[in-house]
Amino acid sequence: MAETHVVILAAGQGTRMKSLKPKVLHFLAGKPLLDHVLKTARKISPASITLVVGYHAEAVRKHLNEQNDVQIVVQKPQLGTAHALQQVEPLLATSTGQVLLLSGDVPLLSHKTLARLIKTHDTNSAAATVVTAVLEKPYGYGRIVRTADTIARIVEERDASPTERNIKEINSGIYLFDFKPLWSELRQIASNNVQGEYYITDLVAAYRRQNFGVATLLVDNPQEIRGINSRTELADVSRIARQQKNEELMAAGVTLIDPATTYIEDDVEVGRDTVIHPGVILERQTKIGDACEIHANVRIKNALLGNSVTVHNFCLIIGAQIGNGASIGPFAHLRPDSEIGDKAKVGNFVELKNTTLGPGAKANHLSYLGDATIGSKANIGAGTITCNYDGERKYSTVIEDNAFIGSNTQLVAPVHVGKGAYVAAGSSITKNIPDHALGIARAQQTNIENWADRPKTTAKTDIHPSRVQTGKK
Ligand code: UD1
Ligand code: CA
Repeated sequence: MAETHVVILAAGQGTRMKSLKPKVLHFLAGKPLLDHVLKTARKISPASITLVVGYHAEAVRKHLNEQNDVQIVVQKPQLGTAHALQQVEPLLATSTGQVLLLSGDVPLLSHKTLARLIKTHDTNSAAATVVTAVLEKPYGYGRIVRTADTIARIVEERDASPTERNIKEINSGIYLFDFKPLWSELRQIASNNVQGEYYITDLVAAYRRQNFGVATLLVDNPQEIRGINSRTELADVSRIARQQKNEELMAAGVTLIDPATTYIEDDVEVGRDTVIHPGVILERQTKIGDACEIHANVRIKNALLGNSVTVHNFCLIIGAQIGNGASIGPFAHLRPDSEIGDKAKVGNFVELKNTTLGPGAKANHLSYLGDATIGSKANIGAGTITCNYDGERKYSTVIEDNAFIGSNTQLVAPVHVGKGAYVAAGSSITKNIPDHALGIARAQQTNIENWADRPKTTAKTDIHPSRVQTGKK
């Protein structure tokens, strides 16, 4: 079979987005529109991928930074889709085979459709094949005009007659072209239309005039060729993407209590028998294992969760790793580079940053643990704070296995609490504590006997109990 070279058009400004950034860099299901198209293109293992950029070309180039399999061509000024494709001729002039032309603003296209497109093109020995769809509301798309059963031409919404506007078969903007007549035919295209642009769609009529075969492929699911031209369409297509992702996950054995309020981005993975409650948002490269339970109103981004993890309501988890059987929340905040060991517990109002909590360790209430390494089965009492920042630099705290940190302790870093050591509640620890020792660092308590029964005076100079001096040294 012929070599397939992919060309992606992404030079347009996307005027209808009313945005300062190029349309193809707007996010859908967790990544820019362009990344969806690239991901699909790569699945058919093309001979090459060329991207045509123009409006804010530098921003797109910067985004593609390390993706070496994409060659970039700049179209300036942007005179239409045919003019855009012409810009790649110098790069592909000596290539053989065919061009698969994709649009940077059609993100849901499936690689299965592309495989069918290549096959249809081959079976029909066509010079061009156009992917079409039938839409109940075809407004805005180019319409497929047929004579008898054969495609005769494509007419843009703006250039169409009222009768042509009633046609429901639309042009998806996805095509396969043989290299053969393509470059010479592109040069013949004129710009005598309402927009004064060079339309790629005019190739169809030109090919038909010269008896080059033009085939069409009608997609089964018209949703996948939806283009994005406005913020409303971005929201509409995002919803379709979400529904698809949710359905895929449910088909693979994930329970979603309410798919309509569950937001799971494209690259997220979730294992079977995991239960996801309403209002959960799973973002970017998040991976969740089997048999987990994620309760309502939790947001997880770029995190790795093992199996049988429970995340209670209202947690924010970003860039953290959580071991099997661990329990998080409610109201916990796990920040980047935190690692929660197997069966460890992070409870209410506990914040972790760049902190490792060993297997079976517990930090159940009201704590800030930053830049700390905490051993297995350690117990972090309510209100423990690692004082990791002196206003200039950050320092680390080490708490060894089985240590017990009493409630309301401040650990002033750098500091080390030994294996099985204890810290008395209310301590401000500034010195290392050896293994098995008790660290206690707080003012000693004094009780004043019979204080309540002292002779009462009504004088205004009465001393409040907190100001009584004991005179002890
Ligand atoms: C285009 C098609 C229309 C089809 C629709 C499907 C034409 C003339 N019309 O219309 O028949 O139904 O797509 O979504 O082709 N671009 C460039 N350079 C340019 C102009 C556009 O690279 O000079 C790029 C855009 O960035 C975009 C793609 O080409 O990715 C399509 O352009 P757009 O302006 O969105 O075309 P539509 O009006 O949607
Ligand atoms: Ca478009």
